[in-house]
Amino acid sequence: MIEPDGPTAGELGVGDPHVGDVVVSEQDLKRRVRELGAQITADYAGRPPLLVGVLKGACFFLSDLARSIRLPVELDFMAVSSYGSATRTSGVVRIVKDLDLDLTGRHVLIVEDIVDSGLTLSYLRRNLAARHPSSLEVVALLVKDGLQSVDLDLAYEGFRIPPDFVVGYGLDVAERYRNLPFIATYRGETGRNDLRATLGHP
Ligand code: IMP
Ligand code: MG
Repeated sequence: MIEPDGPTAGELGVGDPHVGDVVVSEQDLKRRVRELGAQITADYAGRPPLLVGVLKGACFFLSDLARSIRLPVELDFMAVSSYGSATRTSGVVRIVKDLDLDLTGRHVLIVEDIVDSGLTLSYLRRNLAARHPSSLEVVALLVKDGLQSVDLDLAYEGFRIPPDFVVGYGLDVAERYRNLPFIATYRGETGRNDLRATLGHP
């Protein structure tokens, strides 16, 4: 069994030279998610939110956050693509899977894993605002320092982190590392071809 708090990548047996320093520990993630849940519970009393998770990265955050909110929340999911398998943004956002629910009259809270350039979020916000929700706010677990050209206007944010590429707790490189229970830097080349080579793809 894995001890609940504090193990490093090495101790967890990740044994992967591409997993670098721990940026946010499992213990800090748990504590902060509980705090965000308590804050959201207080702010949304009497008007339970519809949590809109942005797949796939936000799935662990959303599931932990939802269980920290003491209100009858609803859940829905959306998948957008802005990265492909590489670690650099293309600036192009595409809806890969749309919501099942109608947002009209609902209190919508977008649950995002990480804000890097902010392009994905500003696209999502515009797209969902056009669907006539009663309110629309954003909770982002991680915000990279100083990279955003757009005004983020986040109602809730978990952690400010340095602008390095990170993996774990939902965040991936070519679908790997999502299940690490902490956030760590990714050590590797940033080009798609280099990444494919790194991960052993042809
Ligand atoms: P943005 O549009 O540049 O803000 O990028 C947002 C999306 O890119 C996130 O929802 C993630 O899916 C992905 N992303 C950005 N930075 C990272 C990172 O450091 N690790 C993994 N995914 C990232
Ligand atoms: Mg994402």
